[in-house]
Amino acid sequence: MNVFVTGGAGYIGSVCVEELLEAGHTVTVFDNLCEGHRSAVDPRAGFVQGDFNDRQAIADAIAAARPEAVIHFAAHALVGESMTNPSKYFRNNVAGGVNLLDACVASGVRKFVFSSTCATYGIPEKMPMDESLPQKPVNPYGESKLMFEKVLSWYREIHRIEFVAFRYFNAAGASARFGEHHRIETHLIPNILKVALGQKEQVDIFGTDYPTPDGTCIRDYIHIADLAQAHILALEPGKTGFYNLGNGEGFSVRQVIESCQRISGRPIRAVEKDRRPGDPPRLVAAAQKAYTELGWKPRFPKLDQIVQTAWDWHVKHPSGYAD
Ligand code: UFG
Repeated sequence: MNVFVTGGAGYIGSVCVEELLEAGHTVTVFDNLCEGHRSAVDPRAGFVQGDFNDRQAIADAIAAARPEAVIHFAAHALVGESMTNPSKYFRNNVAGGVNLLDACVASGVRKFVFSSTCATYGIPEKMPMDESLPQKPVNPYGESKLMFEKVLSWYREIHRIEFVAFRYFNAAGASARFGEHHRIETHLIPNILKVALGQKEQVDIFGTDYPTPDGTCIRDYIHIADLAQAHILALEPGKTGFYNLGNGEGFSVRQVIESCQRISGRPIRAVEKDRRPGDPPRLVAAAQKAYTELGWKPRFPKLDQIVQTAWDWHVKHPSGYAD
């Protein structure tokens, strides 16, 4: 298929583009490079630098690429930042996304795959979390993604755009070529690995008094190549709806630090700090719906495997991407 990928220069997008190309698809990446990196775009893909907050720019780019499907990764995605600057999240993640959808309608795009998040559930009432749980986000980031999920449902009904929305749990790991390089790094695994690489003195543990066995937050880490495979399955005709993507196993912050220590073979200094605002204590996926309806099966389900791929990439790219 001819696929148009927003955010294809970002962490998850870059690996999805690589996997799409490997699967024989043709890809155009559209990215404003505010968080993405030009060198993270697979050279086999077309590239347009642009911002979908500019309605004309995105309409022109979609009209020129004439895609059969759009995969929409581009978004602001920091929970903490959304608590201080909600406007940035609603403008970009909701209003910008509507510009993109309107461009799809104008150009007759029939398939749309959206990166949503388990942050749309808020503090879940049961664990593991399936798609039927109530969605009550506890931060503007999660709310902006939930709002866009609702926009998608209306566009499906009114404009007949078939969509799949994936609620990611914690994306982690790397491919051999593409990995995680945020200009300001807030995520757990890369921050721990920076300590192993000697680039940071310590990793902070945000909160040790949560109602979990070791007092630290529990997350479900999912390899980005597995996320990418789900997007490829979603392109098949007739696939539509909301799907959780996770491994169904939770690891605490301390367990992730231990895994990084094991894989890197280096000591990692960890310092206990106060809780970070907006962090739910425990998020673990029930992803059976994606298994049964999409035929999805993670290839790297073990935390140590995921950390190994991240470590290999960081060792090879100690300063991340050059740009
Ligand atoms: N953490 C630390 N120290 C750090 C960084 C993180 O203790 O230096 C803790 C956090 O407090 C949290 C856990 O490690 O408990 C994971 O934090 P991340 O920042 O790696 O990931 P989040 O779970 O906060 O958020 C990620 C994505 C979001 C997405 C969310 C869904 O960044 O976009 O997963 O759970 F919505």
